[in-house]
Amino acid sequence: ADTKELPTVIWLHGHECTGCDESFIRSTSPFASDVVLNMIALEYDDTLAAAAGAPFEAHLHKLLTEKKGQYVLAVEGGVPLDDNGTYCMVGGRPFVDVLKECAEGAAFIIEYGSCAAWGGVQAAKPNPTNTVSVSSVISGKKIIKVPGCPPIPEVMTGVIMHYALFGEIPPLDVEGRPKQFYGNRIHDTCYRRPFFDSGLFVEKFDDEGAKAGWCLYKMGCRGPVTYNSCGNLRWWNGLSYPIQSGSGCIGCSEKGFWDNDNFHQRL
Ligand code: SF4
Ligand code: SF4
Ligand code: F3S
Repeated sequence: ADTKELPTVIWLHGHECTGCDESFIRSTSPFASDVVLNMIALEYDDTLAAAAGAPFEAHLHKLLTEKKGQYVLAVEGGVPLDDNGTYCMVGGRPFVDVLKECAEGAAFIIEYGSCAAWGGVQAAKPNPTNTVSVSSVISGKKIIKVPGCPPIPEVMTGVIMHYALFGEIPPLDVEGRPKQFYGNRIHDTCYRRPFFDSGLFVEKFDDEGAKAGWCLYKMGCRGPVTYNSCGNLRWWNGLSYPIQSGSGCIGCSEKGFWDNDNFHQRL
């Protein structure tokens, strides 16, 4: 394919663990390699690229000028603001400055993961670095939220593929999330739902109900208040997901999940 025809994607990394990249590269439908090599022109991603250093930063600046108004800006990670943003430095500059510079000429922005979408675990109380979401510092741009810690691989590739194939962003809900992936609660598609409806609950890990696969609501499952695709798509090519592994859902795609009591009781 002629790479000039493919959508240019610039992918930035802020305050984060890089788990979202790890998830993305494990997409099997489509394969991440197909997306990156044939469907988009991923011109800058400082964790996936072979290039590094000053020449790579120069390439970024060339893109910002040459592709102004055309490129997709994918952002992974939150944005620390305290002490002039110095808690996250990229290429010798505070991440918040890099983000603002790159956002200016973006056609639209994708917030990949709960760090970018909501601030993430590093924003947990008392949020010592004052880390916020991308949309807290960028205004006047269309922003797609793709939350999850990390998001499901096929959700990540699905969002960018929608744009690559149709030339437009997918339909979004009121929070800015793609409806096709965030239209249902985990509870709506859960295979343990019949146990919830029958009042059969796990009361303690390893009790008889746990062994029988009953509902994990009383163990703190956040499925009833969490919007994501884990129940239908599952993880690693449909293999499993938290509820199937017996732990319940911690609501990793929801704003502030890191501060809710159920999450802390598990740690
Ligand atoms: Fe890591 Fe979760 Fe943040 Fe993704 S959203 S970078 S997996 S902490
Ligand atoms: Fe709902 Fe969680 Fe029970 Fe599944 S395990 S039915 S998501 S409360
Ligand atoms: Fe996250 Fe809950 Fe899915 S914890 S991975 S949204 S089942």
